[in-house]
Amino acid sequence: MAPIPDPPAEEGIFHYQHGDDVPAEVQKYWAQRDTIFSEYSRGIWMTNDAWFGITPEPVANAIAEHVSDGAPKEKKVIIDAFAGAGGNAIAFALSGRWEQVFAIEKDPAVLKCAKHNAEIYGVAKKIWWYEGDCFEILKTRLARTKDAVVYASPPWGGPGYRDDNVFNLKTMEPYNLDTIYSAFAKVTQDIVLYLPRTSNLNQLVRYTTEGRKLEVAHYCLKGASKAICVYFGDFTFGSKDDDGTAGETTEGSGLLQSE
Ligand SMILES: C[S@@+](CC[C@H](N)C(=O)[O-])C[C@H]1O[C@@H](n2cnc3c(N)ncnc32)[C@H](O)[C@@H]1O
Repeated sequence: MAPIPDPPAEEGIFHYQHGDDVPAEVQKYWAQRDTIFSEYSRGIWMTNDAWFGITPEPVANAIAEHVSDGAPKEKKVIIDAFAGAGGNAIAFALSGRWEQVFAIEKDPAVLKCAKHNAEIYGVAKKIWWYEGDCFEILKTRLARTKDAVVYASPPWGGPGYRDDNVFNLKTMEPYNLDTIYSAFAKVTQDIVLYLPRTSNLNQLVRYTTEGRKLEVAHYCLKGASKAICVYFGDFTFGSKDDDGTAGETTEGSGLLQSE
């Protein structure tokens, strides 16, 4: 096996091995590094900011399984619009469900981490990487993509989202729900959004067709809800998820009827 290269620290990319090297704001995430990435010790690369947004591996795997099972069968392509350090894109590629996995990330250092991390998981060649703004890339280079599902875990405007009893998706920064949904709906109706667990569900229901169900699943880690995924479009879920467990991640779904 080829040796794992050293991270280019001059680009703000690190693989912290010792707690003493870890900045205070990253400590809490680094303490969970082996949950976030089971292969962390093999040389996972991260920027300091990427730790805040990463989808932990058990959650990413549960989402990948549900997206695989629930998406219309004719869908062969998945686009991860906000790929970050690769948490979700790696899980989608590992699922083997997709003919193509496209991953878009605008921060070059974070994209470099994602590509490297995908190498560690053995799926780098299964992912087509795009550096840049997903709104632009979806309008241009991926505009003709057929049979796609779009998955998006956008930024939530920083850790302040935890202070809100009900998270307002209209004022989410830097992109609100309307900006995200309306841009992605030009590519496909089959859209999965990873959002704060306290998201205002009434704001979400407005984006589904009259009389249609909107599936919302909580993804939990160690007994606490981490986030929700909202499945727009033609996703259908069978009864096999009804026991609500997926490894360490437990999943429960609530059905919302559009108004
Ligand atoms: C919450 S993180 C995604 C984490 C990812 N799901 C993971 O598990 O690693 C959001 C990412 O979106 C990127 N981003 C923000 N605006 C973007 C845009 N317009 N186009 C593409 N990427 C963007 C940020 O740089 C950040 O890495």
